[in-house]
Amino acid sequence: MKYLLQKDRPVAVFDSGVGGISVLRELIRIMPDEDFIYFGDSKNAPYGVRDREEVRSFTEERARELFGQGCKGLVVACNTATSAAVRPLRERYPYIPIVGIEPAVKPAALAGDRQRVLVMATPVTIREEKFRQLMAAWEDRAEIIPLPCPGLMEFVERGDLNGDDLLDYLTELLRDYRGGAVDSVVLGCTHYPFARKQIGRVLGEQVKIYDGGAGTAREMRRRLEEKGLLRQEERRGFVTFENSSEDDGKIRLCRQLLEMEI
Ligand code: DGL
Repeated sequence: MKYLLQKDRPVAVFDSGVGGISVLRELIRIMPDEDFIYFGDSKNAPYGVRDREEVRSFTEERARELFGQGCKGLVVACNTATSAAVRPLRERYPYIPIVGIEPAVKPAALAGDRQRVLVMATPVTIREEKFRQLMAAWEDRAEIIPLPCPGLMEFVERGDLNGDDLLDYLTELLRDYRGGAVDSVVLGCTHYPFARKQIGRVLGEQVKIYDGGAGTAREMRRRLEEKGLLRQEERRGFVTFENSSEDDGKIRLCRQLLEMEI
């Protein structure tokens, strides 16, 4: 089925839950005139501990619905879903701008000589071929250390960001990387920027923290522009939040995360 792409339609932003809000905020920052539909699949989250076929089928099903609603482009604001599904999606919808996200290893690796770069991501992202290729591309410039973080996204999904539980979890998870053992950290899951301050506290302020949200937003803007799909008029865009979970607290949490300082 071919969809008609129109300038005045919204851009879809998809994640396994509320984490993709860290990408949505960058999209709004550089394209304030656009409308967005943010869909979080919290009912099926976490994706990061499922198998790739499941992640792929959830993502494809949602993309079909979002395109059916007339969205003119799709940001897969989830590293896990990007590794499992972005390629088949682009094959199926070659004429629609579809942009994924991957861990921002490049700027971290280029920040200096032989940087020690810790990449925090979900188990699926780390074991996928896409990540292996990314590592291979930078391995001779930097020391890349992958760290699967099962359980971390759940703190963000619960909105549990200020308590001791998160700090305890991070202290245990990062125990081998404290005290100057790494130069930087790449947040390879869109949920993690909401725990950025706590990660910084545990590792120390000298450790630089990277995430791919802004680069992904710029890429979407470029793709829309190239296809003549950017809105022309000056206006304030709308954001519509949708979530597969029955818990309407998720929509409230999305709004809070969008306003939060990170
Ligand atoms: N936000 C997702 C990512 O960027 C993953 C969270 C999950 O569902 O495990 O990878």
